[in-house]
Amino acid sequence: MTKNIEIAILGLGNIGSEFFEILQNNLPEIEKVSDTKIQISKILVSDINKSRNLEIDNNIITDDPEEIFNNTNIDIVIELMGGINPAYSYVLKCIESNKSVITANKDLIANHGKELFSKAKSNNVSILFEAAVASGTPIISTLTRDLSYSNITSIRAIINGTSNFILSEMEEKNSEFNDALKLAKDLGYAEPDPTNDIEGFDARYKLAILSSLSFNTEIDFNDLYVEGITNIDSIDFQYAKELGYSIKLLAIAEKNEQNILARVHPVMIELNSPLAKISGAMNAVEIKESMLGTLIIQGPGAGASPTSSGLLSDFISLLKNKSNLSENIPTLNKKFNIVKIENLESRFYLRFIVADQAGVLSKMSNILGEENISIASVIQKENINLDKKWAELVFMTHKSTQSSINQALKKINGLSIVKELKSLIRVE
Ligand code: HSE
Repeated sequence: MTKNIEIAILGLGNIGSEFFEILQNNLPEIEKVSDTKIQISKILVSDINKSRNLEIDNNIITDDPEEIFNNTNIDIVIELMGGINPAYSYVLKCIESNKSVITANKDLIANHGKELFSKAKSNNVSILFEAAVASGTPIISTLTRDLSYSNITSIRAIINGTSNFILSEMEEKNSEFNDALKLAKDLGYAEPDPTNDIEGFDARYKLAILSSLSFNTEIDFNDLYVEGITNIDSIDFQYAKELGYSIKLLAIAEKNEQNILARVHPVMIELNSPLAKISGAMNAVEIKESMLGTLIIQGPGAGASPTSSGLLSDFISLLKNKSNLSENIPTLNKKFNIVKIENLESRFYLRFIVADQAGVLSKMSNILGEENISIASVIQKENINLDKKWAELVFMTHKSTQSSINQALKKINGLSIVKELKSLIRVE
């Protein structure tokens, strides 16, 4: 028997407008596959008088959220406002008035996920957020539904398209960071203020969400280590290539017994590994699971159309799920220690500018030796484009802990023969 459903949309910006149009265009087909008659009852906007290039009945546009909270006929609310305030309080009110929520809002889920999940469960409604990470690329449903019974041991992900675009440009065209950033802005990949993307904060939010779902535990994004891509120079790509690596901003979370180490930073990754081949603004998530082995999902990470695809897939899954709306809501009920980056064991690439004189290399390698750091290779080139007094010295270490590296760097930075540490890149 065909059922009737009323929905509301919160926000009619870029994403909201595109989603509205795609929804309108696909409505007959969605109604058919879900056996549901759908009515868009209200759309919340901040300015009702703004002229819009959309065919919308003016009666459904409102700037009063209470009209949505208090309308008991509305069952599903699609939140597309972004940011935490007022999205958080609006979503909470919708859930408390027994409405299921679909959202593309990663800030909201990273900050308030656990609370919203448990509120939704206790109200027997749903909260779905496929589009919050990697836009429509189906990573959230893979974790919450397909891999809900699993033992995920690690995830490694490229989940910031802007920084992946910049690094790809630097690698493929020998561009410097600032030129690649400018191009990203010109092409609309980077925002006028790109801080969240290039400093790794956007990826840290997304990693907090993915690792919470993977390990079924609450993870505070503030506890995760983050480092962006602004210190990478094009010469690092030349050394990386010589050593057999690409450089990517990876979001990595690893679980081991009671501990989770989760971090976002640039890494050198073997040139022939699948993640090294993810180029431009694409996203990719690699999951290691004990029965399945390695799974890689790749797809677009941003944009109104891919985001609308993620929203629609949540919408259809809600329409088709007639019995238990809260069944796929994560519980996040396991407990782990979130350990600090100092515990990381990794190989390290270190690029220094040093005095070009006798004894420098031996002084530096002595310090590394004192901290039990074994050197795998050293590169020093003549004729680099520097003042003749200074030379560039690159060390690749064998596996060492981050804390030993920190100790060694403290001592090395105290040497008058060392001008500066230009880059530190961990190696996967
Ligand atoms: N700014 C993000 C990115 C997309 O570059 O991947 C939105 O989360």
